Amino acid sequence: MSVAIIVGSQWGDEGKGKIVDYLSENTDIVVRFQGGANAGHTIVLNGKQYILHLIPAGILRKNTECVIGNGVVIDPIAFKQEINMLKENGVDVNGRLFISENANIILPSHKAIDIQKEKKISIAIGTTGRGIGPAYTDKISREGIRVYDIKNESVLRSKIQNHLEESNLLLKNYYNDLNGINVDEELEKTFEHCKFLLPFVKNTTQYLNDAIGSNKNIILEGAQGSLLDIDHGTYPFVTSSNPTSGGACTGAGISPTKINKVIGITKAYCTRVGNGPFPTEQINNEIGRTLSQRGFEFGSTTGRPRRCGWLDLVALKYSVMINGITEIVLTKLDVLDEFDEIKIATKYVFNNEKTDVFPVNDCAAVIPEYTTLKGWEKNIVGVNNFNALPIEAKNYIKFIEEYVKVPITIISTGPDRKDTIVV
Ligand code: IMP
Repeated sequence: MSVAIIVGSQWGDEGKGKIVDYLSENTDIVVRFQGGANAGHTIVLNGKQYILHLIPAGILRKNTECVIGNGVVIDPIAFKQEINMLKENGVDVNGRLFISENANIILPSHKAIDIQKEKKISIAIGTTGRGIGPAYTDKISREGIRVYDIKNESVLRSKIQNHLEESNLLLKNYYNDLNGINVDEELEKTFEHCKFLLPFVKNTTQYLNDAIGSNKNIILEGAQGSLLDIDHGTYPFVTSSNPTSGGACTGAGISPTKINKVIGITKAYCTRVGNGPFPTEQINNEIGRTLSQRGFEFGSTTGRPRRCGWLDLVALKYSVMINGITEIVLTKLDVLDEFDEIKIATKYVFNNEKTDVFPVNDCAAVIPEYTTLKGWEKNIVGVNNFNALPIEAKNYIKFIEEYVKVPITIISTGPDRKDTIVV
């Protein structure tokens, strides 16, 4: 029996989808515990690409059950689209996909407010526009609509109506959005979309804890990344949930004493999408362009180009600390194939002093110091045996392990399930 938390250790887009799918083979239940349809977890199976925004990446394994936990904010429209996409691809979700009664619902008004807020603030956060921040705002202020409310049609209808009317006042009068939202139209549509969730609704907290009692294997699948954490990330340029391991416990209703391991998914370099500090970013240069092109670094939810830079071990050590990461999965190692030299940030200069402590509130002001390692300049795409890696790639892996003092247990060398090395 094992309960493993999987977190992104950087700014998201570390390749969590592929790894969750890979590890799901021997897993009974996969649980999403935070975020919403802002995520885009990509899985490539026999050359076919699947992008999942809300549904756990375990869904492609027919014997694995999947749970959307209480910590998630669910957009019923995105959910329905994803179910349809899976159906079209012959993936049967019946009887093996459940949604927590305590999860909160994203309404069209949340998305409209998200977009208007971004236009109004002086430095935009660069959100995905999926209504995440406004939906969590309502949850925390105890004004959210919960999945449980779907069970009672009249309660649901009146809650949606109140919410849409109130949001419309805000949109029209504060954000000067002249069109606002058409309350009558959106009310009917949202009501129908919410009812679509009903067959999936379950007391997932009890279900998951019963499963732990029956020695099932469970993966708690994080979305986004640790440095986007609302409490521990580069605030305010963060998402509105806790993608760190603590968020897995609250977002699924599983006690910390039941967790056996915390797996940190780490890309072999760094990317960030949206605004906010990024110490090792390579702007307008060949390095950034190579990482972007070879890594195909475009958002899987919004299509936006991702900012690219060298691996940052100061930030990774911080992530290991706040999550209690017990093992690392290193992804996209093959993207570094062409470099003759590879840099890794091992220290920052901050206030004229060297430090290896990540100054989370001041990291826009640091200058990274790098250690340069020799590149392997060989094609390792699809290599699935550790011994077949060039010595320079092995040295890169060892350097990371020694710095953060955590073993690297899996290495990904391509998007497909089979492009994976178990160390
Ligand atoms: P939000 O989560 O849409 O509110 O966006 C807040 C910040 O998190 C923005 O910088 C987004 O680009 C970033 N973000 C949200 N979801 C993801 C993700 O799945 N991968 C990477 N960045 C994300």
